[in-house]
Amino acid sequence: MSEIRRVGVIGAGLMGSGIAQVAATAGYDTIVRDVSPEIWARARAGIERSLAKLVEKAKVTPQQRDAALAHLTFTTRTADLNDRDIVVEAVTEDLDLKNALWKELDGVCGTATIFASNTSSLSIGAMAAVTKRSDRFIGLHFFNPVPLMQLVEVVRAVTTSEETFTRAVAFAKSLGKEPVAARDSSGFLVNLLLVPYLLDAIRAVERHVGSVPDIDRAMQLGCGHPMGPLALLDFVGLDTTHRIAEIMHREYGEARYAPPPLLRRMVVAGMSGRKSGKGFYDYSVDPPRVSDLGLSEQEPV
Ligand code: 3HC
Repeated sequence: MSEIRRVGVIGAGLMGSGIAQVAATAGYDTIVRDVSPEIWARARAGIERSLAKLVEKAKVTPQQRDAALAHLTFTTRTADLNDRDIVVEAVTEDLDLKNALWKELDGVCGTATIFASNTSSLSIGAMAAVTKRSDRFIGLHFFNPVPLMQLVEVVRAVTTSEETFTRAVAFAKSLGKEPVAARDSSGFLVNLLLVPYLLDAIRAVERHVGSVPDIDRAMQLGCGHPMGPLALLDFVGLDTTHRIAEIMHREYGEARYAPPPLLRRMVVAGMSGRKSGKGFYDYSVDPPRVSDLGLSEQEPV
């Protein structure tokens, strides 16, 4: 088995930059590919902020921070990933977009390079099938915020070889993560359980079972969750959750994965959660306050 030394990351959004950060911190030479220098600048600033926080908490030394930043480069050219031992893709949950990238990478990277998708809900097998390396294709599903969350789901497509699985598990461990194995079934382990729970919290809001802060406090104080479901939806992104729910609903045809109408309305209105400044909570004020979702009783006109 050849050693993994050089890592490529496709996509410098929240997940891609988190994955790049943990790879660079673990000592891997890491190249991140995204479409514009503005996106790189935002990703690098986010990584610097996160590393500063981790240094403050003595989880990373200043030397490790400096080494991590020195290990990290950005590019717009897919061809610059030609010498990578593993490429981890973290772009939007759009199979056509991902497959176009995989086809391009398949022609650019050496035959030994492992391809790993950070998809949360799409089929690993459907991506593997557009490449000539379906045995060297795997899912590596990280959790947000990547530098803090311990878990990585290692997802085997029916075509994934045992060697690829073993190497992907070793790679996840080398990033300081705890891997679990999952089959290539939409949502894998975590989202299979998490997504219906999040959608049920939205349904509880729609049905006036409780207020937004009370639903959140109930799950924090009653079940010991670090965040309530509505705050977590804002954190993950309502647009992202909507997309994942649609994919899972298409796959399983079960009502519990169907995006509730309120989620659709909020996404259409641009209320994507923290990243847009507004979701179930309004982050334009400090501390954030509950958003007006227009759900109060209708007054007679
Ligand atoms: N890097 C470094 N430090 C970070 C950070 C990052 N990316 N993000 C947050 N922190 C720091 C904060 O700055 C804060 O530092 P401080 O104590 O000095 O102020 C510290 O971590 C704790 O953060 P907070 O005080 O804001 O809040 P919490 O104590 O609640 O911790 C949390 C934050 C770790 C995000 C915690 O709330 C949590 O675990 N929430 C649940 C997250 C979760 O469920 N993630 C999975 C989502 S599902 C997913 O990703 C899958 C996808 O497919 C949908």
